[in-house]
Amino acid sequence: MATWSAPGKVFLFGEHAVVFGKPGIAMAIKPRVYVTVRKTRHPPRVRSPYLENCFDIMGVNGSVYIHSQLPSSSGLGSSAAVTVATLSAINDEFDMNYTRADIGDMAYSVEKKVQMGKASLTDTHVSSYGGLVLIKGETKRRLAPQSFQLVIGNTLVSHKTAKLVEMVGEFKKEEPLVVDPILDAIEAVTIRSMYKFDDMKVLGRYMDINHALLEALGVGHPMLTRLVSEARAAGAYGAKMTGAGGGGSMIALCPKRSKNKVASAIEACGGKAIITTIDTDGARKERDYGRNSNSKIRR
Ligand code: MEV
Repeated sequence: MATWSAPGKVFLFGEHAVVFGKPGIAMAIKPRVYVTVRKTRHPPRVRSPYLENCFDIMGVNGSVYIHSQLPSSSGLGSSAAVTVATLSAINDEFDMNYTRADIGDMAYSVEKKVQMGKASLTDTHVSSYGGLVLIKGETKRRLAPQSFQLVIGNTLVSHKTAKLVEMVGEFKKEEPLVVDPILDAIEAVTIRSMYKFDDMKVLGRYMDINHALLEALGVGHPMLTRLVSEARAAGAYGAKMTGAGGGGSMIALCPKRSKNKVASAIEACGGKAIITTIDTDGARKERDYGRNSNSKIRR
């Protein structure tokens, strides 16, 4: 049997704008999905379309056990993490020799198939490699890891990423004169943020601006507005929704000393808080039960 894990992700800047070729910055976060795969002669029927497609693409069959620290449908990339960890565990258990890049590509194909062509390249890439990534179109550049102190607030309002992306696309088609400058402003904030990674106050302000611009695109939600305002009032440098919006999650950039206070403020409004930082590992092999095998996945 082989157990692998893969991290979730947050967008620090640039979500939605990335869909139109603008830059975005995403970061892998500590909560992970753990997947154990075992060769079995008579594997039980796998019910999740993600898992089914993982076994299909690898051309094998096995049993699978999942333990997730990531809530699903919350904008934190849980389906990508499940897919990346499952493919990595299959790769290991069945002695295949796929690289990390291969796993990332296959994970994207699986997500695309299950999500009917609308998957995010960012989610599978960040989950495979970990760290901080600048995305622009098809290109992804690893940025130097930063120890941003984050509190994530899950609104517990589920959302449909594909629908929100489509909505913004429609808005842009109908009102290019209004929407294009908003996307340009998101791009400006994303680019400027990279010059300010060491200045939390300015970075927090950029997050506030990015949140307002996303609201202007129409992807806000009253619960996101509430959690963002409460997090700021509790001492965050800045806060914004993360991912597609319309529910899902928000992030607050915090001084270390305020993290608990910000988390309590989020929970007091009915959100679910996760205190976290960057995860630089990406997909990784977890302790396996007795069998002495080294990682079979290559970077
Ligand atoms: C969703 O997590 C982020 C979006 O920008 C979509 C995408 O990048 O695929 C809304």
